[in-house]
Amino acid sequence: MKKILLFVLFLSLAHTSCSKDDGTAPQGDGKLPELQIATLREAPVTMGAAVSVDALKTDEKYRDLVVREFTSLTGENAMKMDALAPAQGSYKWDDADYLVQFAADHGMRVHGHTLIWYRTEAWWLGQILSTDKEVWKGIMKTYIQDVVGHFRGKVASWDVVNEVFEDDGTMRDCIWRRYIGDEYVELAFRYAHEADPDAVLFYNEYGQDYSFLKNQKVCEFARSLVEKGVPVHGIGLQFHTHTAQTEEHLKYAIRCAAALGLKVHVSELDVRVNDEGDPDRVFTEEDAAAQQAVYRYVAQGMMELPAEQCYGITTWGVTDAATWLAEEHPDWPLLFDARYAKKPAYHGLLQGFYK
Ligand code: XIL
Repeated sequence: MKKILLFVLFLSLAHTSCSKDDGTAPQGDGKLPELQIATLREAPVTMGAAVSVDALKTDEKYRDLVVREFTSLTGENAMKMDALAPAQGSYKWDDADYLVQFAADHGMRVHGHTLIWYRTEAWWLGQILSTDKEVWKGIMKTYIQDVVGHFRGKVASWDVVNEVFEDDGTMRDCIWRRYIGDEYVELAFRYAHEADPDAVLFYNEYGQDYSFLKNQKVCEFARSLVEKGVPVHGIGLQFHTHTAQTEEHLKYAIRCAAALGLKVHVSELDVRVNDEGDPDRVFTEEDAAAQQAVYRYVAQGMMELPAEQCYGITTWGVTDAATWLAEEHPDWPLLFDARYAKKPAYHGLLQGFYK
């Protein structure tokens, strides 16, 4: 019943679409989609990439590609707690500041990733002996408000909490939950909102694309936050996905998030090919075509949303030359190949935007 209600709400919201209303979208004039826009900067959905600050500083080709194609930047690692807070109360802003300045210099939006994530808790949290809830609330509040305050007016949006749930739908253990309780999530949003009332605040999660159960949990949880008046403004769908993922799954996850009335950010998109982790795998034409289709589904799914709910699509990395997925075995998950040339995946996005 709930599912049906979500869908009805979604359909009633979807009367306008994400596409720009400025006449730039091609209207079936037969031109190939890639001729319609020079780069993704002109795409009807804000296109972002997770970037390495080191690569921005040292690799000119990388930098030029990022500037040419993207309108939004996420630090792949530069704004995580273990990077920003080497000791309690002391901060290392250099890389994140570089990223923010780079974005400002090139007219790009910055998406902050991520304030609270169990995998990047600073080491010094483990040294704190207190088990007092109020003490832990204070530590979290200070960290969040120092960081959000530092970037106030420069970082447009934040993943406030990343990955709240396990795949089985139970709430994940983390140091904050251990000492503060489940309430840690809503407190994190409230603290962030106090520090920058203009920032768009996201709950970011993975797995909505492949787990119906998790998707449902995430949406129910987000709805409960909204009903309590917690300042959560958007849902981040990570979408670390793969070439066998279906159109139905991807679009359903986007629709469910949108049915909450919140903004939707496909926040970490990459499309794996080598799911088996085969060390001898090669990237075939069939892989490229399957990957193109997945990128198209995601673009189409986002184009269905009302413009005000369509926050953007961010790929998790820029080119296949450097992706977190290829650290242990080969993979080719992104829009640009290892020589920085556009892949069929890129055309898949354009097809999704313009067909
Ligand atoms: C990954 C980075 O890409 C890696 O470089 C790092 O070693 C580990 O984290 N979900 C997230 C991202 O929210 O922050 C993760 O990024 C990928 C999974």
